[in-house]
Amino acid sequence: MMADVEELKKVVGYKSVDDYVSSGMVVGLGTGSTAYFAVERLGQKLASGELKDVVAIPTSLRTKEQAESLNIPLVTLDTHPKLDVAIDGADEVDPALNLVKGRGGALLREKMVEVMADKFIVIVDDSKLVDGLGISGAMPVEVTPFCWEFTLNRLKQAKSLTGCDAKLRMADGKPYVTDNDNYIVDLYFTEPIKDAQAAATEINSMVGVVEHGLFLDMTTAVLIAGKNGVEVKLK
Ligand code: A5P
Repeated sequence: MMADVEELKKVVGYKSVDDYVSSGMVVGLGTGSTAYFAVERLGQKLASGELKDVVAIPTSLRTKEQAESLNIPLVTLDTHPKLDVAIDGADEVDPALNLVKGRGGALLREKMVEVMADKFIVIVDDSKLVDGLGISGAMPVEVTPFCWEFTLNRLKQAKSLTGCDAKLRMADGKPYVTDNDNYIVDLYFTEPIKDAQAAATEINSMVGVVEHGLFLDMTTAVLIAGKNGVEVKLK
């Protein structure tokens, strides 16, 4: 069973690079077990010479390490603020192609990079499709460590997030620390978020919040791998 899901991730990861990356492009590299295969494919195609003059911006330290191990030339938004394409996985995809991301903790860098891409290509297996956002697991919010409990309580009390539970993400008995030295508060809902746009606006208005995992109106296309092949949904 696990092997099947891995295979779906590989198929969709490879296809995203085959279909959307050409020589000369600036490419955003996502984070997670699905994006891993897109990075792998890009490395293969640069090594074989099938692709040339591609530079990439990684969205986490993990992805940076993988890309470096494959000799993918890396740049940053400082020198390359416009990307041709960014490719990444997602935790949830709703029917309007809005996303929850960040269960892997990389949401801030992901959003900074992906919002600057001409095309944002999302790669998932069909287990990630949901009818409404926030229902299959946590909706992560990156917060400053300073007075994190205060920010967590404000999130719990937010009007647009009624009914959510909020928990500080832990790792090995300590607060989980992001690549940006922040913490993550995971929000849990018992029913889908009613108005994701209102939730995004309200969360962004809280000063101790750095970024949240709602990726709204950003997606160009979603490649969905299932047992009958890959379906492409365009925005
Ligand atoms: C990383 O923080 C996330 O946004 C990932 O992109 C997301 O969790 C999808 O990861 P998988 O492809 O591993 O499910």
